[in-house]
Amino acid sequence: MNILVTGCGGFIGYHLCKKLILDKKNIIIGIDNINNYYSTKLKKNRIHNLKKKNFIFKKTDIKKINSLKKLFIKYKFDYVINLAAQAGVRYSITNPRNYLENNIGGFFNILELCKEFKTKHLVYASTSSVYGDSIQFPLSENLNTDKPLSFYAATKKCNEIMAFNYANLYKFQATGLRFFTVYGPYGRPDMALFKFVNSILNNKKIDLYNYGNHHRDFTYIDDVVDAIIKVTFKKRKEYHEVYNVGNGNPKSLKEYLSLIEKYLNIKAKTRKLKKQVGDVEKNHASLKKIKSFITYKPKTDIKDGVYNFIDWFKKYK
Ligand SMILES: NC(=O)c1ccc[n+]([C@@H]2O[C@H](COP(=O)([O-])OP(=O)(O)OC[C@H]3O[C@@H](n4cnc5c(N)ncnc54)[C@H](O)[C@@H]3O)[C@@H](O)[C@H]2O)c1
Repeated sequence: MNILVTGCGGFIGYHLCKKLILDKKNIIIGIDNINNYYSTKLKKNRIHNLKKKNFIFKKTDIKKINSLKKLFIKYKFDYVINLAAQAGVRYSITNPRNYLENNIGGFFNILELCKEFKTKHLVYASTSSVYGDSIQFPLSENLNTDKPLSFYAATKKCNEIMAFNYANLYKFQATGLRFFTVYGPYGRPDMALFKFVNSILNNKKIDLYNYGNHHRDFTYIDDVVDAIIKVTFKKRKEYHEVYNVGNGNPKSLKEYLSLIEKYLNIKAKTRKLKKQVGDVEKNHASLKKIKSFITYKPKTDIKDGVYNFIDWFKKYK
């Protein structure tokens, strides 16, 4: 099977490809534009680790339909997994155009090509941020999601609507996965775990927004990869669906931080700040819908997950 994974140099894309290449029947074509939103060295190292006979890397941009089309012609993808995007809630407040061009323009190219080449299944990344500041928990997929707090969330909600339309109009299967605060080794430098550990080890102050009272449904990368793979290969009669991919057990940022302090055996210096524009206060995934579709049971407890990250971080640095 030929599988296109976009954003393979990114955190989730890397781990996904790593798992997919273990099956020798899969030929994985990974693409990434290796942009400099965060360390390009980290992205290149991830791609370097993917070197295997059945993995082909192409430095390509999903905004460039002609180069993407050449890949669709050459490899006739059975499955397309679109993880390439401009991620990050806070960055979208200052750089909205990046999100418009990559997340909406780039995703439109992916939809057009899946339509033209009759891809069996398009799986794409959405986000828990589409729920905005909900007062109903756990967050289930049938809640209203038309009041995003950030432009990032707005672009991901657009993806869901665009995919619903293309999948139903042109009759192919498409699935949006709403990821909930994914963490683990090789994680993103702009996210809490990486920033906290890095700051503590470098004796720097940590900014704790909303005074550390944000709650996040931290979801370990291996559980996310397991969900993506099971969803991708499962057939369904509905052309389009969205599923939460979370852990189902939210923790406060303060609890998360004390776990880090315990493992590092260092007390963090913190700067307690008010909530930032665009941030949601709490997320907590309902897993009912995804569990009714695939066998999904998040296996990694936050204690093990944070430990694994720190273990990796110390070796990597
Ligand atoms: N990590 C999370 O907690 C989380 C939560 C919700 C949703 N998501 C979504 O999941 C997806 C993967 O997230 P991640 O954490 O791995 O982010 P990431 O930034 O590590 O990975 C995205 C990758 O896509 C690449 N990319 C960006 N624009 C591109 C373009 N136009 N063409 C080709 N490549 C491009 C980047 O260089 C990067 O390597 C993203 O769509 C993100 O919005 C992630």
